[in-house]
This record gives sequence, structure tokens and C-alpha cells, in this order.
Amino acid sequence: MRHVMRPAAFLAGGLLLFLSACELPPVDAVDLGFRGVGMQQVDNPRTLQDSMDAVAARVPQLAPTPDDFGEPAPPGTWENVQVLGHLSEAEFNRFMLAMTTWVAQETGQGCNYCHVIEDDGSVNFASDDIYTKVVSRRMIEMNQSLNVNFAADHIREGGINCWTCHQGQVLPNNYWFYSDGTRRDFDRYFVNEGTRQIERYYLDQRAVRVISPEALSGNTDNTSSIQDTEHLYWIMIQMSEGLGVNCTFCHTSARFSDWEQSPPSRVHALRGVNMVRYLNDEYMVPLQDAWPEERLGPMGDGPKIQCATCHNGAWIPQYGNPATRGETWPALTQIGTVHPSAPSETPAEGTPDQP
Ligand code: HEC
Ligand code: HEC
Ligand code: HEC
Ligand code: HEC
Repeated sequence: MRHVMRPAAFLAGGLLLFLSACELPPVDAVDLGFRGVGMQQVDNPRTLQDSMDAVAARVPQLAPTPDDFGEPAPPGTWENVQVLGHLSEAEFNRFMLAMTTWVAQETGQGCNYCHVIEDDGSVNFASDDIYTKVVSRRMIEMNQSLNVNFAADHIREGGINCWTCHQGQVLPNNYWFYSDGTRRDFDRYFVNEGTRQIERYYLDQRAVRVISPEALSGNTDNTSSIQDTEHLYWIMIQMSEGLGVNCTFCHTSARFSDWEQSPPSRVHALRGVNMVRYLNDEYMVPLQDAWPEERLGPMGDGPKIQCATCHNGAWIPQYGNPATRGETWPALTQIGTVHPSAPSETPAEGTPDQP
């Protein structure tokens, strides 16, 4: 009997280990706080390396960076260029090709994903009668603003490019809509569930802190409810998942509210929150009228950004792979200008014909 049990027990043990998703040692533990407070970020160097290799395998190889970006193109080069007038013609073309790969690779449509094909089969590059071009122009402005205005606060020197969020797909992996309380889809985007609407924290529901400064102080200023606390924890869990870290990446777990005892990444994160609100306020919400019906959420609002839109489960988006950064793209690292031949009256933003 015993010699039958042994292999069975061995197998069961192996299966248990397999099912529990245990990772084999050694793992790397990096101390983020004072000694003894257990503020460690634990990473498995092999799975981390796999994730970094996966990014490296997916990032596109694009035309090399020229030694000289050249002078802005002379008047008459283009008809309707409103945010890339600071580029030379060569750099403009290099950038159009790059955008095609960063955003429209999966469509196989090439330039036509953003440019109108006329009845005679020719391509009308100057036309704005296609929503993808109108949205792209706004996305270029958003990228320029991120790389210029948020370099110090959040994005740092390397900057970002379209691939950081899009990864060769027309729809990035993580964005959000208002909820109608029923639908929920965690595959491509989050629809806020029920009345919780947690992601409105990144737009118009801003107050989130729940902890009183002292325990049992009789302080009645704090009116936070259990629901408020649950709401906050949902945001925190989602933030952690979005960055692929645990709570101690940003907090001393004994004193969650105390900024003095929090590592600098918490301040970086709070600036990230303000940045995301700015992106939604200034760039995503104003695109409302540009989206075709099938891009709207269940409540009829357009898509909006959250941490995971850029971070995609990594504490530095795409693990900082240079091909996902903006630094070699003057189209995205300088605030653009209007090309002199563009129409002086800019067409109303976001009101093109829907295809
Ligand atoms: C992801 C969207 C997108 C893709 C793909 C794309 N473009 Fe563009 N294109 C734009 C936007 C946006 C503008 C307007 C930029 C501005 O207003 O500063 C533009 C403008 C142009 C213009 C200037 C037209 C004019 O005279 O006003 C040319 C030429 C052009 N694109 C060529 C191309 C070529 C060639 C390709 C394929 C290699 C391509 N584009 C792919 C978005 C795109
Ligand atoms: C911070 C993240 C982020 C960056 C960076 C970004 N985008 Fe987007 N983009 C989004 C989100 C979110 C959507 C909405 C997805 C949807 O339509 O549901 C979107 C949608 C689009 C769409 C519409 C897709 C469709 O088929 O409806 C286009 C086109 C686009 N982006 C172009 C660009 C271009 C070009 C760049 C670089 C200049 C860029 N994006 C950079 C987040 C980003
Ligand atoms: C990426 C950084 C980051 C991570 C990871 C993170 N937090 Fe936070 N946390 C913050 C920031 C920033 C605030 C302040 C938010 C605000 O004021 O709008 C905060 C606020 C809080 C608060 C409220 C403190 C108060 O004064 O009321 C609690 C509680 C909290 N976090 C718990 C957690 C827990 C639990 C986790 C893990 C599930 C977690 N956090 C993960 C950054 C983070
Ligand atoms: C537009 C893209 C984008 C969005 C949206 C974004 N981040 Fe970041 N974040 C970055 C980039 C790029 C870096 C890397 C900076 C660097 O190279 O050090 C970064 C770095 C960070 C870091 C520092 C990591 C470290 O190594 O210390 C934290 C923390 C962080 N982000 C939190 C957040 C949180 C929380 C949100 C949502 C509220 C958010 N980010 C939204 C692009 C973004």
C-alpha cells in the first residue's frame, strides 16, 4: 500500500506547487523604506527579464534617427499642417511612417488608416474628413504637452511616444468609460461597475482620503463612510495592478496616510494622478464629438485615460525600452507650430464627417 501512496503524494505535492503559482527562488527583494518595516519590492528576476524581453521583441524597428533634423519646411510644402509645422519635410515623413507603425500596424491599412481615399483612388492627405486623423492630431498635441510640460513632474527625460500606449494597436489596452451599472469588461477597458465608478477619480470625483489624523479623537470632521473607504481601496488596488507593484511601493504599511514616511514614488504617483486628470480634461473629453458611435461607452461618453493606459502593468511603462520613448522624435518633444500655408481659420476641432 505504502509504495503506491508515495508517488501519489509526490504527484499531489507537485500539482499543488504548480497550482499555487509559486515561483522558484531566488527572488530579488529591494528595500524601499527604513530597515525592519518590511517595505520590500519583490521581483523574480527571470519573469521580469521575460517581460522586458517580450517588450523588446514587440517594439518596431524604425528608420534610424538622422544626425540633423533640418530646418522647418518652407511655405507651400503642405496645405493643412497645424501641429507639425516645426519639422523639416524629411522628418515629417519619417514621423508619418512611425505613426503608421505605432498605431495602425494591426490594421494593415497603412497611411489610409488616417488619410481619405478619394473616389478616383488618390489619397487626399490634407483632408480632415476622417475621424482618425482628427483624433491623431489631438494625440500628437497631447504627446507634445506630456513630453514638454510633464517631463519634470512625471515622464522624465526619455519621454513617451504613441507606442507607449498603443503598442501597434488602434486601441490601447487600458482605458475607461462611465458605467451604466451593468456592463463590465476587463479585457480591453474598465467600465466602472455599479455606483462605484471608481475611475471617476481620474476626472471629476477627486476627494479620496479617508484616514483621520488621530485615532478615536472624537474628531467629527471626518465624515468618510465604509463605502468611501472601499472606494479608496479599489482605486489603490487598481493603481497597484496598473503599475505591477504592491502597496509598499508607495506606502509604509503602518502609516498609510503619512506622507513623511512614504517613499518618493508616492509623490510621483500623486503627480501622476494630477497629470491623468489634466489629460482627460484637456485632451480626451474635448474629443467627445469626434468619436464614432462604436467608440463610445455604455453612457455615451468617450474613452478616458488611467495609469495603466501608459503603465500596462509595469512601474516604468514598457520597462523604459528606448524604442517606446519620445526623445528621438522632435514631432513629439517640442510644442508644434502651424505650417504657414495651413488655413488661417482652423477647422472646428472634433466635428469631421463620420466614416
Ligand atoms: C495615425 C494617423 C496617421 C497616419 C497613419 C498617417 N498620417 Fe499623415 N497625417 C496625420 C495627421 C494628424 C496629419 C496632420 C498633422 C498636422 O496637422 O500638423 C497628417 C498630415 C499628412 C500630410 C500633410 C498633408 C497636407 O498637405 O496638409 C502628408 C503629406 C501626410 N500626412 C502623409 C502621410 C503618409 C505618406 C503616411 C503613410 C506613410 C501617413 N501620412 C500616415 C496622421 C496620420
Ligand atoms: C497616454 C496614452 C496615449 C498615447 C501616448 C497616445 N494615445 Fe492614441 N489613444 C489613447 C486612448 C485611451 C484612445 C481611445 C481608444 C478608443 O478609441 O477607445 C486612443 C485613440 C486613438 C485613436 C483612435 C483609434 C480608433 O480607431 O478609434 C488614434 C487614431 C490615436 N489614438 C492616435 C494616436 C497617435 C498618432 C499617437 C501618438 C502621437 C497616440 N495616439 C498616442 C491613448 C493614447
Ligand atoms: C503607485 C503608488 C501607490 C500605490 C502602489 C498604492 N498607493 Fe495608496 N496612495 C497613493 C497616493 C498618491 C495616495 C493619495 C491619494 C490622494 O490624496 O488623492 C494614496 C492614498 C492612500 C490611502 C489614503 C490615506 C489617507 O490619508 O486617507 C490609503 C489608506 C492607501 N493609499 C492605501 C493603499 C493600499 C492598501 C495600497 C495597496 C493595495 C496602496 N495604497 C497602493 C499611492 C499609492
Ligand atoms: C502618459 C503616460 C503615463 C501615465 C498616464 C502615467 N504614467 Fe507614471 N510614468 C510614466 C513614465 C514615462 C514614467 C517613467 C519615468 C522615468 O523614466 O523615470 C513613469 C513613472 C512613474 C512612477 C515612478 C516609478 C519609479 O521608478 O519610481 C510612478 C510611481 C508612477 N509613474 C505612477 C503613476 C500613477 C499612479 C499613474 C496614474 C495616476 C501614472 N503613473 C500615470 C508615464 C505615465
